[in-house]
Amino acid sequence: MKSNIFLRNKHYYLIGLLFLTVNALAINTYSIIPYPQKLSPQIGNFKFDNKTFLSVLTNDVEVLNIAVQFETQFNRVTGINLKLTEANSTSKIEFIKTDSAFTNNEAYRLSVSPRLIRIEAASPTGIFYALQTLYQLLPADIYGKNRSDIKKWEIPCVNIEDAPRFSYRGLHLDVCRHFFPVEFIKKYIDAMAIHKLNRFHWHLTDDQGWRIEIKKYPLLTEIGSQRPETLIGHYYENMPQQFDNKLYGGYYTQDEAREIVKYAASKFITVIPEIEMPGHAMAAIAAYPYLSCTQKPLNVATKWGVFDDVFCTRETNFTFLEDVLSEIMAIFPSEYIHIGGDECPKTRWKNCPDCQARIKKLKLKDEHELQSYFIQRIEKFVNAQGRKIIGWDEILEGGLAPNATVMSWRGIDGGIAAAKSGHNVIMTPMSHCYFDFYQAEPATEPTAIGGYVPLIKVYDFEPVPKVLTAEEAKYIIGAQANVWTEYITSASHVEYMAYPRASALSEVLWTNPENKNWTRFSANMLNAFDRFKALDINASKAFFDINAKVSAIPSNIVEVSLRCDNPEAEIRYTIDNSTPDKRSKIYTMPVKLTKTTQFKAQAFQKNTPTGKAFSEKIPVSKATDCSYVTNTKIQGKTPEDKSLTNGM
Ligand code: ACM
Ligand code: ZN
Repeated sequence: MKSNIFLRNKHYYLIGLLFLTVNALAINTYSIIPYPQKLSPQIGNFKFDNKTFLSVLTNDVEVLNIAVQFETQFNRVTGINLKLTEANSTSKIEFIKTDSAFTNNEAYRLSVSPRLIRIEAASPTGIFYALQTLYQLLPADIYGKNRSDIKKWEIPCVNIEDAPRFSYRGLHLDVCRHFFPVEFIKKYIDAMAIHKLNRFHWHLTDDQGWRIEIKKYPLLTEIGSQRPETLIGHYYENMPQQFDNKLYGGYYTQDEAREIVKYAASKFITVIPEIEMPGHAMAAIAAYPYLSCTQKPLNVATKWGVFDDVFCTRETNFTFLEDVLSEIMAIFPSEYIHIGGDECPKTRWKNCPDCQARIKKLKLKDEHELQSYFIQRIEKFVNAQGRKIIGWDEILEGGLAPNATVMSWRGIDGGIAAAKSGHNVIMTPMSHCYFDFYQAEPATEPTAIGGYVPLIKVYDFEPVPKVLTAEEAKYIIGAQANVWTEYITSASHVEYMAYPRASALSEVLWTNPENKNWTRFSANMLNAFDRFKALDINASKAFFDINAKVSAIPSNIVEVSLRCDNPEAEIRYTIDNSTPDKRSKIYTMPVKLTKTTQFKAQAFQKNTPTGKAFSEKIPVSKATDCSYVTNTKIQGKTPEDKSLTNGM
């Protein structure tokens, strides 16, 4: 694992050098994230004023609504009244819905010349995405709630032809470990839409809380949505545990869930609900103890982890689950229903007369085949309603349900196996897509579950494994980042964990590999931070911090390599224990140390310190090889290290 870090950091260092040589690089005028597939800069600007005519050449109500929403927001922030008639206009924004020339339903064309902006697509989705791009060409203030001080509103001329690489571009949110109000869910959806993400995976049920009203089973929310207390601090099995002694709960009514579905649809985002089964079922069992094998009363879980009490395979439970899924499908029109399937211990099934009788009767080999039977039976029910299931990659064990889509989270192997057997796959490997993992130095970050997934690692993610043939690769329909909330208690902390990593993910999912470019992306991030500010999104600022790599080279010398994601950063350092300031030595290449040294460094942008200071006493010995993110060694906290990811 260390060698992985080493290799990566060598890569960082090379990238860092590249940044320094192009340090004068201007911020990209076309700072669009995700970056379009084809963008040709053109000379000149388009200026918006009261003589700009907003022309909508279609009767499509959805397109009209999109145009009206744009006009309303544009007017609120700029004070400019776009004209709705051509008379006396001097420039024009044209919305055109064409029927031809687009093979992808989400594709669009956007051309900006000095007097004309033309937005063209074959679908309202395409028109919506063209507008998201247009917004990003405008100053970030355009996203604000109030009138901006900016007087001149103009955008650079450009020709863009764009369409996504993947059809499934997802972001997940766990509302069970902690609950987030409807208003925040809408804000989360807004941020997704800006990034052209199109699938919101809403994790609605788990051991620590059942969060969706089911009319036929009112106790699911009356009892199952409340836990008597919550674990404080990190969860380690067999270690002393402290609880907060506070009742915690919350759930969404069906009306609220419908409101979210409708809101998301207005932003071309599909909401995919997840109802966990057969594991992660403690909250449901607390409400209706007959659902478990032992049928004994228990509490909604108050700590994190995987629990032995799961849904029994008794016949009554299928009735229960089908009733629940019927209500869920009535709320959520999505093609996919996520049925969980992960982390289901077989302990109770092994000792349950009902489960054992079913194994015998169906001539199943073991409890894994029983789980497979469970999922296949649920799949049949969901398919009969014209829907499809998604399950976590454990659903491969004991035989995959015939039409299931696999969400590969424990790595990419589950995804590879599923694609090879002709099943659709959504890649969400912990190594790159778990946004509950640390993104910066753990010692100075809010407590996270473990792991280490910095921005550049997300950006480097390739959802299609190399081992797949072109034919098999077609089954990788996209990827998704997961935001599990054991250690995320507030909405602003959700944003902190999700952004800017979701920005990087959006480019992974939208932009073809040959059009991806970390140097451009990181330059574009500077404008993205202005957007986060205008949108009041509490994005992490780890982007501005220094990352350090120390490597031992022969003859008792160590080399310190530094990098910063921010391409405008100038790194200055000292080796005399003084605080780096704007007169300190500029870092241009790895620094060699021959004796133990207090090494201090700071990133500056335009002579102003940005990001956290780096200060570390670096010993000189052969054993010095290590990575630092700002101050502290990353101690084995790689995403592959499952011991640090307990409780998911
Ligand atoms: C998972 O993280 N248990 C899907
Ligand atoms: Zn049982």
